Amino acid sequence: MADSDGIERLIRANLAGFTGYSASTSPDTLAGRVDMPLENIIKINANENPYGCSPKVLRALIDSPHFHIYPDDGQQEIRKLLSGYAGVDAARIVASHGSNTLIDLIVRLFVGTGDEVINCVPTFDIYRFSTEICGGTLVNINREKDFAVDVGKVKSAVSGRTKLIFLASPNNPTGNVIPPQDIAEIIGTGVPVVVDEAYYEFSGESVMTLTERYNNLMVLRSFSKWAGLAGLRVGYGVFPPRIADYLLAIKIPHNVSVAAEIAVRESLADLDYLQGRVKDIVTERERLYGELKKLSWLKPYPSQANFIFCEVLKGSAVELYMKLQRKGILVRYFDNPLLKNSIRISVGKPEHTDALITALHGLAD
Ligand SMILES: Cc1ncc(COP(=O)(O)O)c(C=O)c1O
Repeated sequence: MADSDGIERLIRANLAGFTGYSASTSPDTLAGRVDMPLENIIKINANENPYGCSPKVLRALIDSPHFHIYPDDGQQEIRKLLSGYAGVDAARIVASHGSNTLIDLIVRLFVGTGDEVINCVPTFDIYRFSTEICGGTLVNINREKDFAVDVGKVKSAVSGRTKLIFLASPNNPTGNVIPPQDIAEIIGTGVPVVVDEAYYEFSGESVMTLTERYNNLMVLRSFSKWAGLAGLRVGYGVFPPRIADYLLAIKIPHNVSVAAEIAVRESLADLDYLQGRVKDIVTERERLYGELKKLSWLKPYPSQANFIFCEVLKGSAVELYMKLQRKGILVRYFDNPLLKNSIRISVGKPEHTDALITALHGLAD
């Protein structure tokens, strides 16, 4: 039998030394490291919805007698429901276990060894993650100082090997949207373009209506953020019909659970409630932004999502992250060549903002 080194030699060469996705800290990992019960931790590090999901989802899950039955692999009901919400034909829709897995599926459909993927960095790391796993080559286009996408640079990066262009709008972790006319210009290259609208409900800006017009546009959405279903994992995408067919054909069977189907149905039946919570979060985002601006040593960036990106102008972002963690407040920090000394704070409930701001003032003293 091969020893572990022997096995490692058999791994695909392009994955040698692969850097995985670095997920946010989970409160469970902090047992014994913070001076408080874990349930009191303020988790504002993963852009989750602090209000949770619709109460209708919880009730329907308790009442469901169907968890021993596989879900419909063809996603008939869920695609129909999503069609009503997104305002597009169900034949264009594919649902998945979170929009992350749709990103992965799209890359698997288009990208093989040596193919190029244009990525507007800094941005959501899963575009890199999936491209590298498939053996694709990333063509990184640096964003401007204010994190705007330079359309000219993207267009001139297109080559005969370009298979995909990823555009997150709003972008994670910077929170800014890409103007629709810029997206349309990039679609004009004819290259398949993925517009990731995971935070659409907080920005209200979308290019969904362009999906009927362009056969190289794909729009991704998530139920993790606005609908509070991050733990149940539901996302969907809108595609040219032929591409939707291919994605349905290559996906793992039953990629949306019965629980997730129920959660989508009940969320869409409780839109007023969920949209009210989205409004609360947007109001709180603006208050948080105003409070962060008062701190001379932080530079918050305006956001159209449910989080705020901040440069740490004095002191170290890692230390700030650690100090907040000791106080039971989890934020995300970055310190790499594209995102130097910075943090991202998800918008919580008003009491979370109050606790964070008090802690930040305390740290400055
Ligand atoms: C820009 C962006 N796209 C997609 C996702 C993935 O969302 P999910 O897989 O939970 O639907 C995230 C999650 O943070 C994100 O920030």
